[in-house]
Amino acid sequence: MDLQANPRGSICARAVRKTYPGREKPSLAGVDLLVDAGRVCALLGANGAGKTTLVRILTTLTGQDSGTVSVNGWDVVRDPARVRASIGVVGQYAALDEVLTARENLELFARLIGLSRAAARSRAAELLEQSGLGEYAGQRVSGFSGGMRRRLDLVTSMITRPAVLLIDEPTTGLDPVARRTIWAAVRSLADHGSTVLLTTQYLEEADELADDVVILREGTVVATGTPSDLKALVGEPRMELREPTLEDVYLHLHTGSTAA
Ligand SMILES: Nc1ncnc2c1ncn2[C@@H]1O[C@H](COP(=O)(O)OP(=O)(O)O)[C@@H](O)[C@H]1O
Ligand SMILES: [Mg+2]
Repeated sequence: MDLQANPRGSICARAVRKTYPGREKPSLAGVDLLVDAGRVCALLGANGAGKTTLVRILTTLTGQDSGTVSVNGWDVVRDPARVRASIGVVGQYAALDEVLTARENLELFARLIGLSRAAARSRAAELLEQSGLGEYAGQRVSGFSGGMRRRLDLVTSMITRPAVLLIDEPTTGLDPVARRTIWAAVRSLADHGSTVLLTTQYLEEADELADDVVILREGTVVATGTPSDLKALVGEPRMELREPTLEDVYLHLHTGSTAA
């Protein structure tokens, strides 16, 4: 295994295998993934491809059967506490208090991790701005739409300024307008220096947000590249009335027409 020059902020998985107890088929069948510090990587795959399993391993919620995984330079098996201290996980601490406002929720979380009242207030203000929720700061979460809640989740996970942010399917089930606001929030958080690994089923989302895309299918990485590499793979949309989808990519890779 080649040593990374700067493991700080990076994610590294080598030959990761995982089969859930009682299952025949591995959910991860030898996955390699490398995300350099400060990059946004999209793990793109259909339902059941193994995305959440990999995220659960990266967050130390479940262990791999074999292979090595490190986050921010820490091994998930040997140093799980340090891994957990390095990451923000979106959706995991989605314990938003409905009767509190967005600002109060963020200040509460900030106080819980030990920030002073003044520091909590300024961190909350900063994050509300980055998420585009500034104008709703004083509104109760109970009145928030799904998209607004998810943006608040996103920034809640950023209170500790984690080096690595892991986001599992940030926009699944959201309408196109909400999706765009999430994209803007993710981009803003990435611009502030975090390494981001997000999972998605949408080619469009990977294209929109990621510096690098890793395509997972049935527990195996089937392609790695930049969004433009992937678009080159499926070709520009021609006479079709729709943009290419993940299925188109899978099909091209499967038939090997341009992938070889
Ligand atoms: N807790 C579990 N127990 C058994 N099988 C699981 C469990 N979680 C996921 N799987 C299986 O592992 C495969 C990958 O699932 P998952 O990682 O959730 O994929 P994705 O997030 O890409 O939809 C699927 O076949 C799924 O049924
Ligand atoms: Mg999943």
